Amino acid sequence: MNPAVEQVRALLERARALEANAPLEAGEFYHQARLLDAGCLEAHNALERLRSSHAYGRWMNIDCVIDERDDIYRFFASQDIARNPIREYLADGWRTLAELMPLLEREGKPLTGVGSMLEFASGFGRFTRHLTRVLPGRVTCSDVLPGSTDFARERFGVEAFDSATNPERITWPRRYELIFILSFFTHVPLHAWQRWLAHFAAALEDGGLLIFSIHSPAYAIEHNVPLDADGGCFLRSSEQSALSTDEYGTTFATWERVRREIGAAIPGARVEIHPNTFWIAQDAVVVRGGR
Ligand SMILES: C[S@@+](CC[C@H](N)C(=O)[O-])C[C@H]1O[C@@H](n2cnc3c(N)ncnc32)[C@H](O)[C@@H]1O
Repeated sequence: MNPAVEQVRALLERARALEANAPLEAGEFYHQARLLDAGCLEAHNALERLRSSHAYGRWMNIDCVIDERDDIYRFFASQDIARNPIREYLADGWRTLAELMPLLEREGKPLTGVGSMLEFASGFGRFTRHLTRVLPGRVTCSDVLPGSTDFARERFGVEAFDSATNPERITWPRRYELIFILSFFTHVPLHAWQRWLAHFAAALEDGGLLIFSIHSPAYAIEHNVPLDADGGCFLRSSEQSALSTDEYGTTFATWERVRREIGAAIPGARVEIHPNTFWIAQDAVVVRGGR
């Protein structure tokens, strides 16, 4: 066995044995383990649990526990440039906040004034943990991953409900002033878009905004993605190990195709698309109600 792996394993074992009766000492062993393995979630989550001086939550002022089932975290950890995947994952939620807030300002709906917000496809709360600090008591989350909504409710104190793979099976608990969906339409097959879009429109308050992200068509062209004659492409691969590639892959669409799908699903909707707004090459689509 790799000596570093063996060392981490031994440190974790000592820490676990000490945790109940000597938490300070245990914290030091967990800290040593995380120094050796920057992506060690067991050590990280223990440091958060113990409110150790090495816990990220103490300086980020948010709940920094990361669920072991979080494939978005695994995706971060798998990147060649990842040096400290835990910190990078946690900081990336700030990035989303920093990307969403100016967009909302431009749209005349500052985030802090939003009365109710649905963060759909919220996963295990990469962004939710930051959002709820800005909008306490006003955020609802939903995702289809087993355990994700319990995690969001328990850790971040948000309302949360389980989603479904079929939009018509989702009953909205209420309507929302803002529905924000980051990197969901980037994965849903195009044949399902209109059903999802119509269903989201039904969950919007009058005057509400639906904001979602798409892959930038320029990125698709640059990477030779084979767009079909209707300006779309669906590839059967994704970062989520728990979801079927029939319903969740990687999706590309031209702006014309995006506008056509929205127009067909939400007649009379007003649509604006802002290039390169989120993450790497994701454009923001802003939809205002229909007729
Ligand atoms: C690329 S991840 C983005 C997660 C999150 N929005 C973020 O920014 O970190 C896409 C998310 O869509 C979720 N998802 C896929 N199908 C869904 C469905 N039918 N209903 C709700 N969420 C779904 C996945 O489980 C995953 O959490």
